[in-house]
Amino acid sequence: MQEELFKKIIAHAKEYGFVFPSSEIYDGLSAVYDYGQNGAALKFNIREYWWKAMTMLHDNIVGIDAAIFMHPTVWKASGHVSAFNDPLIDNKDSKKRYRADALVEEHIQKIESKIEKEIEKARKRFGEAFNYEQFVNTNSKVIEYRSQINTIKARLAEIQNNNDLHGFKKLIEDLEIACPVSGTRNWTDVRQFNLMFETKLGSVSDESSTIYLRPETAQGIFVNYLNVLKTGRMRIPFGIAQVGKAFRNEIVARQFIFRMREFEQMEMQFFIKPGEENHWFEYWKTLRMKWHKNLGIDPSKYRFHDHEKLAHYATAATDIEFNFPIGFKEVEGIHSRTDFDLKQHQEYSGKKLQYFDNDTNTSYVPYVIETSIGLDRMFLLILSAAYKEEEVASEGKTETRVVLQIPPALAPIKVAVLPLVKKDGLPEKAQQIFKELKYSFACEYEDKDSIGRRYRRQDAIGTPYCITVDHQTLEDNTVTLRDRDTMQQERVNVNQLLDILNHRVSITTLLQKLDE
Ligand code: GAP
Repeated sequence: MQEELFKKIIAHAKEYGFVFPSSEIYDGLSAVYDYGQNGAALKFNIREYWWKAMTMLHDNIVGIDAAIFMHPTVWKASGHVSAFNDPLIDNKDSKKRYRADALVEEHIQKIESKIEKEIEKARKRFGEAFNYEQFVNTNSKVIEYRSQINTIKARLAEIQNNNDLHGFKKLIEDLEIACPVSGTRNWTDVRQFNLMFETKLGSVSDESSTIYLRPETAQGIFVNYLNVLKTGRMRIPFGIAQVGKAFRNEIVARQFIFRMREFEQMEMQFFIKPGEENHWFEYWKTLRMKWHKNLGIDPSKYRFHDHEKLAHYATAATDIEFNFPIGFKEVEGIHSRTDFDLKQHQEYSGKKLQYFDNDTNTSYVPYVIETSIGLDRMFLLILSAAYKEEEVASEGKTETRVVLQIPPALAPIKVAVLPLVKKDGLPEKAQQIFKELKYSFACEYEDKDSIGRRYRRQDAIGTPYCITVDHQTLEDNTVTLRDRDTMQQERVNVNQLLDILNHRVSITTLLQKLDE
């Protein structure tokens, strides 16, 4: 884990108006965050990339916007009231509460770091002659550590699948896991803890008025299946997409915006004919990975991870994981949900949620493949991949420049217009260019400080291009266009700016590339 790097990213996100702790003047609220001026713009652009890729590039996917509050029976039908739980355990000495599975997973990570250490030692010892595959397959310590990990993972999967709370405690005891705060192994039993937030509807607060803040956006899609089917004259296969807030009372809510109590999901339910689920599961796995890699981020930072423990609704599930500074972690899930949700809602509501197939003259409850990505996690992915510290030469010295190499189409500000000096008619010319560009791109005009400092400020918020207006501009109507990543400048005519920028920084170009 690159803890230092993670801390720097968090500090940078705050210093440059991306992410603030919620209600900070009251010392914040645990695992709740606000997005600042640059963060809100970056989030908006990620959302737009996802929304347009789903709804504009597929003529059989439409988008909706369902309410956060839903009828309480929705959550009984979906299984969330009875099964949306995390196993928790308390240390009696420190009084700290943990997720039991997280404790076991951290234990596994410790063994994985031991393997990494052995590999590093050997790499140093053998130098050029080091053969990774040969080493990990023959070194007795690595083999032993790997075998330990496999045994623990198998026990964990069995415990989770059988909901075996005694087994959980026994596993934690057998692994001799100690509380990171008190250092003792004085644990309570493991209990289940429901993650849904409750609130009351209306002025009379009794049992019957209890409603929940939705823990996923997907159910808003399922309960609207029939409405969209009829009003959109949809034919299977078709999808319904939605972006919106979700709420979970997470027990382990650390790691910045990776695990929040209030967050945003971008979900799509794809309704298909039963029997075709394997084909469509593979199809969506491929397409979603393509969406990620289209952003130009190092492809080796992504991987698939198939689930060993399946959620109560799924028959197959895989995660797209990204190598964050806190290690490889889930950013998106692709789930084969069968007809579980529609059948449950059919039963609880008494309404038929079926599809009539004109070709075969039969009715059936469709199966569903779901793609579900956290908008905030995607935001963290972009920040983690973008943050770079570079040594650069400046006026005969070297200095460190911090640059956010955000994919240009997602950058909060696309272009900054900067007069070289604040006199000689340059600000007026720069203002004129700014006014021409502002209808097409998020632009910033800035004339304070030296040009070098202004470039650094734009680098730090990830602005892909800076336009500098100098004395030559007044003579031949050309400006310099500075590239954030290479710091190279090219001289271009003002009349070409719209076309050049459109090609390099627009979501349209990104979408066209995705569709190739
Ligand atoms: N409808 C399926 C579903 O909700 P999930 O794996 O629980 O599946 C989907 O969540 C995605 O939502 C995750 O891959 C993650 O990106 C995001 N997510 C889940 N819990 C989150 C949390 N507490 N904070 C931020 N993002 C979260």
